[in-house]
Amino acid sequence: MNISKILNLKNQAISSILEAKDKKELENLRIHYLGRKGEISQLIKKLPTLEVEERREVGNLLNDAKKAIEEAIQNQSSIINHQSSITDRDWLDVTALGEKINYGHLHLLTQAIREISTVFEKIGFIRVSYPEVEWEWFAFEALNMPETHPARDDYESFFIDEKPSPKYGQMVITPHTSSGQIREMQRTKPPIRMININRCGRPNYDATHVPTFHQFEGLVIDENINLTHLKGVFDYFAVNFFGPQRKIRLRPFHFQFTEPSFEVDINCPLCLGKGCKVCKSGWHELGGSGMVHPQVLKNGGIDPKKYSGFAFGWGVERAYLMKSGLNLDDVRLLYEPDLRFINQF
Ligand code: DAH
Repeated sequence: MNISKILNLKNQAISSILEAKDKKELENLRIHYLGRKGEISQLIKKLPTLEVEERREVGNLLNDAKKAIEEAIQNQSSIINHQSSITDRDWLDVTALGEKINYGHLHLLTQAIREISTVFEKIGFIRVSYPEVEWEWFAFEALNMPETHPARDDYESFFIDEKPSPKYGQMVITPHTSSGQIREMQRTKPPIRMININRCGRPNYDATHVPTFHQFEGLVIDENINLTHLKGVFDYFAVNFFGPQRKIRLRPFHFQFTEPSFEVDINCPLCLGKGCKVCKSGWHELGGSGMVHPQVLKNGGIDPKKYSGFAFGWGVERAYLMKSGLNLDDVRLLYEPDLRFINQF
C-alpha cells in the first residue's frame, strides 16, 4: 500500500475539516473519511491482505491518521459551537453593564503625602524632597547637635557603612526631615516657604512607631517672621487637613534647633478635646516646632539679624491616623498588605 497516499489522505482530511463551517459539513466529512465505507476504513479493511512487515507499518500509519482526523473533528466542532453561540443570538443588550474591573488605588501613605502637599501649596509652600541618606552634619551638627551631644539620643539612627566624609561625617538614613532645612537654606534665598516630605528611619517598632516612616517638615524664613505666623499656619492646616472641628495646641518644649520650641498637639478626632478612653487628655501629640535658632540660620548661610523663621516637623503616618473619621489606632496597619483593610479606602 502506498505510504505517501495515506499521508496525503490524512492532510487532505484535516485541511477540509479546518474549513468546515457548520456541523452538517463536519458530519459529512466524518462519514467520508471515518464512516463504515469511508476512505480510511476502506484501507483498514485491506490490511489483512498485506505481508506481516508491511501490515504493521501501514497499520500504525492508518491508526495515526484516524486519531488525527478524530481530533481535528473534535476541535473544529467546539469552534463551531462557540461561534454559533455568539452569532445565533438574535438580540444584543447594548445597555447591559460590562464586567466590573477592580481598580487598585494609591497607597494610603501616597494619598496622605499628596494631600499634605496640596494643603500647604495652597498657601504658597514649595514641595521639596531632600536625600533619604544624608551626611551627619546636615542631620545633627548643623542643627546644633555636635557629635557628643546627648540630644542625639532622641534620634537613634541607622548609620551607613561607608567611609565618613572629613567635612560632613558619617552617612546616615535621615532620622528626621529637619536635615532638609539646611539643604533648603543652601539651595535658595529668603523668602523661603518649604514643605519637605520624605522617608525617615529609626530603629523602633511598636503600635506608634515603625522603623521606616515619613515626616513633613515645614520651614518659613523671611523678614519679621514671628510666632503668630507659626500659629496661623498650624490653625489653617488643622482645619484643612484633619477636619473642620480640629484644633492645634502648642506646649513649651526643647529642641536644639529652635528657640523657643513647642510640641504640637491636635485635638482627639473622637472626642474633639473633651477627653475619652482613647486619648485620655483630649489631645494627641503631632510633632515638634519652633522659631529657627539663629545659629541654624547661620549654618544655612542666612543672616539672623535680617531674617527670622519658624519650622515644624511632623510624622505623616501619625498625622494620617489623626484625621477625622478614620478611627485607626495602630500605625503598623498602614504597612500591612491586608486587602480587608486596604479595600476600605
Ligand atoms: N525633627 C524633630 C523630630 O524628628 C521634629 C521637629 C522639632 C522638627 C522641631 C522641627 C522643629 O522643624 O522645629 O523629632
